[in-house]
Amino acid sequence: MPDRPNVADPGRIIAHRGASHVAPENSLKAIRAAARQGVWWVEFDVSLLGDGTPVIHHDATLDRCTDASGPLLDITASELDRIDYGRGEQIPTLDQALDLVEELGMFANLEMKPHLQSLGRMAEIVAKALEQRHWARQRVQTSSFSLGELDALRALMPGHSIAALFTQPPENWPEILDRMQAAALHVQFRHLSTSLIDAARRRQIDIRTYTINDPGAVQPFRDAGLTGVITDHPPYFLDDHEWKRWSGT
Ligand code: G3P
Ligand code: MG
Repeated sequence: MPDRPNVADPGRIIAHRGASHVAPENSLKAIRAAARQGVWWVEFDVSLLGDGTPVIHHDATLDRCTDASGPLLDITASELDRIDYGRGEQIPTLDQALDLVEELGMFANLEMKPHLQSLGRMAEIVAKALEQRHWARQRVQTSSFSLGELDALRALMPGHSIAALFTQPPENWPEILDRMQAAALHVQFRHLSTSLIDAARRRQIDIRTYTINDPGAVQPFRDAGLTGVITDHPPYFLDDHEWKRWSGT
């Protein structure tokens, strides 16, 4: 059995892009809101600016989430304060987000976004930010749709916890996870099945699903052994006694 470095287990509910139902997605406000809602885990997306600064942002362009437009790669860190991320927020840098996670005592699922021009650069930049933080080994798990970036991160940080992220896992997902010693499999809800949960759990792999805001729809999978849910609105789960107990928070 390969060694699969994992984080501590603070609960099963992960706030997607922070508490993105009540605050601008991927903002510091969304991370704080998640903490107030009672979850320990936040998921956020890491993208690169043109000067290589890692920031918390989902898309390759500014268009959908800000009052500016154009490719993220066209701006540098010095321009962040002129861009509105919604409700007076700014696009956070990865350093700011990690500092807030530390301050709040939270756990993070850091998703490296595989925007084309960032491929081959992201893992090294993320590893540098994580290596500066001794607490990250226990409280940050990194995922990505880019297996190349995850392989690169594994090589740079052998002890770091990794989640392989798929829309629909390919048939050879167990080999892929073994190769990168991933501790978890993150799967889009549409492609979740009880047989996949069984297979993951047999291999002692954590399995979580995204993005799900309907506790009723996920209940059969919870009962089948699902490890966690990534949701825009944790209260949909935490306001229910049975789900709250399951969540471990
Ligand atoms: O990490 C799970 C989920 O966030 C992946 O999809 O597009 O919401 O980043 P997306
Ligand atoms: Mg994401």
